[in-house]
Amino acid sequence: MEKTFIMVKPDGVKRQLIGEIVSRFEKRGFLLTDAKMMTISRETAENHYGEHSDKPFFGELVDFITSGPVFAMIWEGENVVENARTMMGTTNPKDAAPGSIRGDYAVNVGQNIIHGSDSTESAEREIALFF
Ligand code: TYD
Ligand code: MG
Repeated sequence: MEKTFIMVKPDGVKRQLIGEIVSRFEKRGFLLTDAKMMTISRETAENHYGEHSDKPFFGELVDFITSGPVFAMIWEGENVVENARTMMGTTNPKDAAPGSIRGDYAVNVGQNIIHGSDSTESAEREIALFF
């Protein structure tokens, strides 16, 4: 069965949105197979976001994702990678549809509540990195 890596980012944890996010995935019909609260090291953050290492926002992104605890999860189910991306909404919350997680809870691209793998290959890499 397909798996994906989902993470409630430090802003989502601080705003007490873990339960809301878990609930949305459960109600959609996906299965939570592993989860942990953790603080990410800079090394892990730089590895996780390696594809963005040459972008102007990379430093702030690493600072932010290591700024407090995150809630890391593995979710399983049919087409879960793509479905999770739809449920999350677009990267920039200003364009995210109401009803999506970012569309309902975020306004700023730098603090957009949730991470989800963008492909089955990324999911495999990210699950290995975090679990
Ligand atoms: P990206 O992988 O493009 O988005 P997604 O999280 O939807 O897969 O970017 C990773 C994170 O980097 C994104 O969630 C928020 C941050 N980011 C910025 O701060 N500024 C930007 O212009 C972009 C594109 C991303
Ligand atoms: Mg991404």
